[in-house]
Amino acid sequence: CGIVGYVGSRPVAPVLVEGLHRLEYRGYDSAGVAVQKRGRIAVTKVAGRVRDLRDRVESPGTATTGIGHTRWATHGEPTDRNAHPHLDASGRIAVVHNGIIENAEQLRARLSGEGVEFASDTDTEVLAHLIAAVDGPLEDAVRAALAQVEGTYGLVVMDRARAGELVVARNGSPIVLGVGDGEMFVASDVAAIVHHTQSVVFLDDGEVATVKAGEYRTSTLDARSTTRTPTTVDLESGSYGLDGHPDFMRKEMAEQPEAVRRALRGRLDARFATAHLGGLDLDPMALRAVRRVKFLGCGSAYYAGQIGAGMVESLARIPADAEPASEFRYRNPVVDPDALYVAVSQSGETLDTLAAVQELRRKGGRVMGAVNVVGSAIARECGSGVFLHAGPEISVASTKAVTTMGVSFAMLALLLGRVRDLSSAAGTRIVGGLQALPDRIEAALELDAQVAEVAQRYAKSQHMFFLGRVSGWPVAREGAQKLKEVSYVHAEAYQSAELKHGPIALIDADMPSVVIVPNDDLVAKNLITMEQVKARGGPVIAVTAVDLPASAADVVIRVPDGEPELDPLVLGIPLQLLAYHTAAALGRDIDKPRNLAKSVTVE
Ligand code: G6P
Repeated sequence: CGIVGYVGSRPVAPVLVEGLHRLEYRGYDSAGVAVQKRGRIAVTKVAGRVRDLRDRVESPGTATTGIGHTRWATHGEPTDRNAHPHLDASGRIAVVHNGIIENAEQLRARLSGEGVEFASDTDTEVLAHLIAAVDGPLEDAVRAALAQVEGTYGLVVMDRARAGELVVARNGSPIVLGVGDGEMFVASDVAAIVHHTQSVVFLDDGEVATVKAGEYRTSTLDARSTTRTPTTVDLESGSYGLDGHPDFMRKEMAEQPEAVRRALRGRLDARFATAHLGGLDLDPMALRAVRRVKFLGCGSAYYAGQIGAGMVESLARIPADAEPASEFRYRNPVVDPDALYVAVSQSGETLDTLAAVQELRRKGGRVMGAVNVVGSAIARECGSGVFLHAGPEISVASTKAVTTMGVSFAMLALLLGRVRDLSSAAGTRIVGGLQALPDRIEAALELDAQVAEVAQRYAKSQHMFFLGRVSGWPVAREGAQKLKEVSYVHAEAYQSAELKHGPIALIDADMPSVVIVPNDDLVAKNLITMEQVKARGGPVIAVTAVDLPASAADVVIRVPDGEPELDPLVLGIPLQLLAYHTAAALGRDIDKPRNLAKSVTVE
């Protein structure tokens, strides 16, 4: 979900609506704003998109203080009444909230017993009633309310009796303050405010702030004041815009060569045929002591981790695997003190991944982050790691972040390999392969027209297989995920050789198979898989890093050559394009697929 707030001298409604529009990728099933208007609070909220809200919010008006929210439903259906902001019974307190109040049911029962009537099914509304029940300064009331609450929150509170003032608090869900000239912004994400100001303050968990037009004051939940000086976000506001592209997925796919260049910058060492990851904080002895690597992430970050595990095993020859963070956190994992755990997350906010990191730390595990968003919860919790430098990713379907994850893991694998048995010749080969990668990806993006045509041809399919083995297997999984996410075509990824043990029963003329063929020892085996599919009348689309006979498949999509260990990073590109063009052919809302949100800060 997304939060925005403003205190200053401009008409607030357009500032809020514009901010929400920029945050919409975080959740988009309902949206709302509340503004201070001559001693009362006026709320407008709708189930639907920010554009639906924009149509309803009155013309700019005179109000100059307000809060807004764009929601991804967790508790309660996406309806007008469940949209934020939520008010207390008297309409004095308005609240927008990200996160989950875990004891909301008990608090609701208690408040109902005291005669409070609820206007929504949300956990957030509880906060409005709790805050309204406390007399005194707003900040104290917020503290007193939060003392009764268990769960996670990033929240902004407004009191109609306190003109030009907002109180914000953070625990587990990000909140950032934007410091303007005689005005202040609040947001869950810099994307909402960076076009107004690049001077920002990231709140810590357990922090509260009172925000007025020209000032802000921060303190802890138990009222000890803290000192927070603004930092500058070095992002051009333009990088949050479409820059002439039809949508963000297209823009972000196109940005991949540049994103990879940034991810590599200053990190390759041609002389010693290795990589330097400055944020890793492990000397050669410590690197040598690592006996296992485990990648943890959710969704595409998990699949990227699986690609990384393959690279670590092949270059460093130490056991490596990947696991969904959501599973790891709850299965009482055996934490190996000699393992290096890697928490993988574009946003750095995914609750399941954060919880996995916390569980690891509790059990003495050594964990590094592979995170795109600087200052995010997972980056902070890990303390050390690599930033992806992909730049802001807005499209819900992740593309450039996944690619830079893979690039970072290739460097990690190289580094771990070079303190072990990877020769300097082999290291030099990988360094060269990484240096060539941006151009290789650029060339893979030029397959666009061919892939668009393939997408047109197969867009009406109800189902598709994505087949790959060893290093091609996670590529197939990510390709299937991408297709599902943006086109809603059902796709299933399978290890090629497992096909014959059951799922081959599904193959017929209406079930295309996308077969991933890296330049490895298994090319002949992958050809056998294609034969098996064709023999059952199934269309075959080969996505390959080697030359295949034209007769091997109905379509052969050939990516440019390079170092085979890095093939997974290039083979993923046509699969992104396939998902994109299939979604376009089916008329889907590419940047905002149904039911999804980019940052899932809830369970
Ligand atoms: C959500 C998104 C996915 C994303 C996953 C992990 O489920 O819809 O696209 O891969 O979260 O996100 P993260 O920010 O942790 O990489």
